[in-house]
Amino acid sequence: MGKDVIVACDFSSKEEVFAFLDKFSEEKPFVKIGMELFYSAGPDIVREIKKRGHKIFLDLKLHDIPNTVMKSMKVLSNLDVDMTNLHAAGTAAMMEAAIKGLTREDGTRPILIAVTQLTSTSEERMRDELLIDAPIDRVVIHYAMNAQKAGLDGVVCSPLEAKKVHEICGNSFVTVTPGVRFADGEVGDQVRVMTPAQAKEIGSDYIVVGRPITQADDPVAAYRRCVAEFVG
Ligand code: C5P
Repeated sequence: MGKDVIVACDFSSKEEVFAFLDKFSEEKPFVKIGMELFYSAGPDIVREIKKRGHKIFLDLKLHDIPNTVMKSMKVLSNLDVDMTNLHAAGTAAMMEAAIKGLTREDGTRPILIAVTQLTSTSEERMRDELLIDAPIDRVVIHYAMNAQKAGLDGVVCSPLEAKKVHEICGNSFVTVTPGVRFADGEVGDQVRVMTPAQAKEIGSDYIVVGRPITQADDPVAAYRRCVAEFVG
């Protein structure tokens, strides 16, 4: 898998995203579109950003019955995204249905990755509210193994988990890691962070970087710094 920096375009309007992307005259960054932008701007935003030549990770984290997920994935595949995701908690049947829906007639399909446990879910809440007794790191690895068995390409995880995921699932199983900050930058609300260089060292395949680029005084320079540190 090619290493790349994915820019989280967490904006709530089409105008804001385009004002941001217009700053890039030479590069075409890989862009992450999340629920906020997708729900406010609709599927056209995907088509328009794609038309501008960007790769797209559509981060909608699907979780529903297998038939609904299969049909929804078919729609996303027709939108020609490059990567999308779902919750591994939806079980193997749902993940297999997702692959079926995503696969185009010519056999190609976007990269499909799974969310294991959200980083906002603590071990305590998992035990008390979800009645899952196992330690959270075991749950993350177990869900990654389930995703791999179902035929998915990888998982979203913290950079700190990426190494373990590769050890257990192999190096070709993709790790997509948010929570990236420059050594001299603000951490904001992220708790466990890594620099792009550290994420590279630990073996992340893709880093997802939002505010350190979108809120920088010079977003293009911040993006280039990220690429230089992570891809080299
Ligand atoms: O601005 P920042 O670099 O923190 O953005 C990180 C992006 O990655 C956001 O879009 C956030 O929703 C997403 N993300 C995350 N942690 C996760 C999963 C997704 O920060 N565990």
